[in-house]
Amino acid sequence: MTKDNSAPIGIFDSGIGGLTVAHKVKELMPNESMVYFGDIAHLPYGDKSAAAIQAYSIKVTDVLLQQGCKLILIACNSASSAAFELVREYVGSKAKVFNVIDPVVEHVSQHYNKQKVGLIGTKQTVNSNAYESRLKQLNPDIELKSLATPLLVPMIEEGFFENRISHDIIEAYLHDEALEEIEALILGCTHYPLIKNEIDKFYGGKVDILDSATIVAKRLQQFLKEHTLLSENKIRKDRFLVSDITASFEASAKIFFHEEVHLEKFPIWD
Ligand code: DGL
Repeated sequence: MTKDNSAPIGIFDSGIGGLTVAHKVKELMPNESMVYFGDIAHLPYGDKSAAAIQAYSIKVTDVLLQQGCKLILIACNSASSAAFELVREYVGSKAKVFNVIDPVVEHVSQHYNKQKVGLIGTKQTVNSNAYESRLKQLNPDIELKSLATPLLVPMIEEGFFENRISHDIIEAYLHDEALEEIEALILGCTHYPLIKNEIDKFYGGKVDILDSATIVAKRLQQFLKEHTLLSENKIRKDRFLVSDITASFEASAKIFFHEEVHLEKFPIWD
């Protein structure tokens, strides 16, 4: 693992959803530099096979290693559930690898003992049982009920949130009996922080809405602190690399990152 604390943090996602996590990382640790990679050419990962997601994730990881990243965060639940172990093995001692599932499972296992917790995510994330199996190991007394909500990513990407259509789709999903009587709901997709307010409104504040971005950013900060890897000054510009680019992604990136983002095309699949 590099001992250069000014080295960037590498973050990747299938597209721009992971920018919600990148934004929290930046907010919490403004001295850190980051290299973000959005594999827009293969979006969405959530409907792909585990084997395909693994192949994409390894190639993207290679780019981040070439950029000298001190840490790699898989800011995509679909890739975290399908490819985390493989990426970690592949990276070996070169960098620490984090996913967006484990920190959330740790949080849930500590705060919701003997309670019922819901999870919404892509088909890949839900069908992989990644949350259930990890949670069972840490706290088998928590009942986790999952629901695949595949319409939400295209809905958000097309800019449908805080409107009548998003309201109806969200309501239709959240009325599912799997999510009855939950104490908390895990937003198991890095796109979903954009509809957190709408989900919160649906539950009238009675259910805790757990968005992984804050929990994961805090976990990264703790790790960097413990390993004296926190950067003292920001000396590099953040870079946002994408494997394909369209004007609409550049416009949406700003919504996910809460500030202007310059996307650089970095073709790794040509
Ligand atoms: N951001 C991805 C996730 O967290 C969802 C988008 C996709 O399906 O590629 O699962």
